[in-house]
Formats: sequence, structure tokens, C-alpha cells
Amino acid sequence: MILYDELRYPGRFYPQASIERMATLATLYGMDPPPVQSCRVLELGCGEGGHLLPLAHAFPDSEFVGVDLSEVSIDRARNAAAQLGLEKVHFEAGDLGAFRADADTFDYIIAHGVFSWIPPAIQEKLLEVCSRRLAPRGVAYISYNTYPAGHLRAFHATWHGFTPATFRTLARRPTRRERS
Ligand SMILES: C[S@@+](CC[C@H](N)C(=O)[O-])C[C@H]1O[C@@H](n2cnc3c(N)ncnc32)[C@H](O)[C@@H]1O
Repeated sequence: MILYDELRYPGRFYPQASIERMATLATLYGMDPPPVQSCRVLELGCGEGGHLLPLAHAFPDSEFVGVDLSEVSIDRARNAAAQLGLEKVHFEAGDLGAFRADADTFDYIIAHGVFSWIPPAIQEKLLEVCSRRLAPRGVAYISYNTYPAGHLRAFHATWHGFTPATFRTLARRPTRRERS
């Protein structure tokens, strides 16, 4: 069990990481990206599917695969996909460090809110997956923290050192006897 299994991180849709925007920017830079209406999309560290599910709904003829280390998050993503009747989105629980770099390719690869939160070896793996599993005309999106706001990362690193029990203790109201 990992911390993301115990502390919920629901995520959401991130317009800056939408495949339409990726395709538009790639076109402006002179590329010829695959059509978003019929493409294959991989999201690494997809959490509960907050970003991938709206995309799968908007582009029903495209295929979507989401991968995340948290089995609890992946269960939630699968349940949401089933309730929404989305058949072309698949969620896999697994470690990015063990993700196959030599299988089929994707037209768009998204890693939002992941790169700055994983150890260097997994960062390398993420880049390897992007370089080896991106289709020839494909586009990858990797967000990462920058300074000065990135200083919040240090705060977060400390915060991650806490366990859910720490938060329960912090949230508990002191009893009358403890207050007196
Ligand atoms: C900060 S959350 C971001 C979730 C989502 N991408 C978003 O932006 O809302 C980081 C995610 O990366 C996942 N993650 C961390 N290490 C991972 C690994 N080694 N393999 C796969 N997923 C990982 C976590 O489980 C978590 O869902």
C-alpha cells in the first residue's frame, strides 16, 4: 500500500494537457500530429482518471490507457469508466519503473504532476517510455515544477513524510481535560 492509496488525490481535467491543445501546438511548430478523433493516448501516473475520463468521453473513437502505482486510485478510475459506459479507456495498476518500453506505441503520452514527484531512476524510465513508445508523429506532454513556486516541493516532501495517522492525530480535537 502506498500513500496515494490512503490519502485521496482525485485530480481533474487539465486543459494544458489536453490532446487537442497538444495537437494544436504541435501543428503550430510545424509537426503533423495524429488526429485526436482517432488516436491512442497513454497517461502515466493517471491517478483516479480525472484527466483521462473526460478525454475518453470527448473522443469516443480514440483509445486511452492510464497507468498508476496506486491500486486504490486505479479501482476508482475503473469504476468511474464503467459507470460512464466508456469502453475505450483502460486503467492498469503498476509501477512505471516496470512499464514495458518495447511494446506498442501511442500517439499522445501525458504525464501531468508526476515527473517532479518521482525518484531520478523513475524519471529516467518515464523519459525512456516517452522516447520508445511514442509513435513517429506523436507528441508527449511532461509537466514539472519550476522555481520559485517549486519551493513548495520542499514543503510537500516534508508533508509526504507524514502518515495518515499523523493527519488523524492533527485533526483530532483535544478533549476538555487536555484543554484544561
Ligand atoms: C501528484 S499525483 C498526480 C496525479 C494526476 N496525474 C494529476 O495530475 O492529477 C502523482 C501520481 O503519480 C503516481 N505515481 C507515483 N509514483 C509512481 C510510479 N512509480 N509508477 C506509477 N505511478 C506513480 C501516484 O500514485 C499518483 O497518482
